[in-house]
This record gives sequence, C-alpha cells and structure tokens, in this order.
Amino acid sequence: MKKLVIAVGTLLLGAGAVMADQKLAVEQDNLMRAQGKSVYVTILKMGKGDLPYDQAAIDAALAQLETSVPTIPKVFEENPKEDVVNATYGSSPKIWQNKADFDSKVPPVIKAVADLKGKIKDQASAKMAFDTLNEKCTACHETYRLRLK
Ligand code: HEC
Repeated sequence: MKKLVIAVGTLLLGAGAVMADQKLAVEQDNLMRAQGKSVYVTILKMGKGDLPYDQAAIDAALAQLETSVPTIPKVFEENPKEDVVNATYGSSPKIWQNKADFDSKVPPVIKAVADLKGKIKDQASAKMAFDTLNEKCTACHETYRLRLK
C-alpha cells in the first residue's frame, strides 16, 4: 500500500513537472506560429499572388508583428526543457547558454517591421517585405531553432 502511494505520488509529481514545461513550450511555440502566420502566410502569399492582395490584412500582420516580436526575449526567458508534443520545430538548448546573443537577434526584426510600416502597398512591395523580414527571422532560426522531423 505504502509503495503504491509513493508510486502514485511520484507519478503525479512527474506529470506536474511535465505539464508546467509543456505549457511554456506551447506558449513559445504559439508566439512563433502567430508571427509565422503574418510572415509566411499573409505577407508571403500575397507577395507571391497566391492570396489576393488585401491591404487591411497586410496592415494587421504588421501590427501583429509590431506587438509580438518585442516579447520574444521575455517569452523565451526560461528553458521548458522539452518540445511541444509532435512539433516540427523545437528550441535549441544553445538559447539558454547564450541568451544575450539570442536576444540580440530580436532588435533587427523590430527595426525591419518598423521600417516596413506604411511601405507595403501592393503585391510587389509585399514580396520585397517578405524577403526583408524572412532574412531577419532566419538569422535567429539558423542558430537557435531545431528541425525535429
Ligand atoms: C530571437 C530568435 C527568433 C526570432 C527573431 C524569430 N524566431 Fe521564430 N523561432 C525561434 C525558435 C527558438 C523557434 C523554435 C521553437 C518554437 O517553435 O517555439 C522558432 C520557431 C518558429 C516557427 C515554427 C513554429 C512551429 O513549431 O511550427 C515559426 C513559424 C517561426 N519561428 C516564425 C518566425 C518569424 C516569422 C519570425 C520573424 C518575424 C521569427 N520566427 C523570429 C526563434 C526566433
């Protein structure tokens, strides 16, 4: 009986720890997915002509990036020490060995977004905006994002 109680207790503790980490991993992933939607769906697809050009959607995407990108250093403050279940991408442990360098990849994205505000007006400028943004996002991903599958 005692053994059973200890076993169940350990299991619950383990589950608690896993849940806490998974929640943080999901929060970090959701932040990235939201930025991905703005850049890789709205701006990229309108730039390529795969989606009809929509100024309101472009402006909303830039506004989303403007508020969301500056939160990256804080949202990635702690290491969740696990990946989102079934995720395609995960965080490299290097982020937390080199957090200052990781954080230094954020201001260039903030600046690119600020510079693009009001400048995307048609398909051609959306295409250019995508290239500019993608380069800055990739500058962090190439070092700190891992492909899991
Ligand atoms: C300072 C570093 C950094 C910057 C800047 C950054 N990212 Fe990420 N991104 C990450 C890390 C780390 C991951 C992997 C962990 C995760 O998915 O939570 C990631 C994952 C992603 C993913 C994959 C999410 C998934 O699991 O499907 C997308 C999409 C993404 N980022 C989009 C962007 C876009 C778009 C930008 C630029 C506007 C950007 N990121 C800027 C660090 C960064």
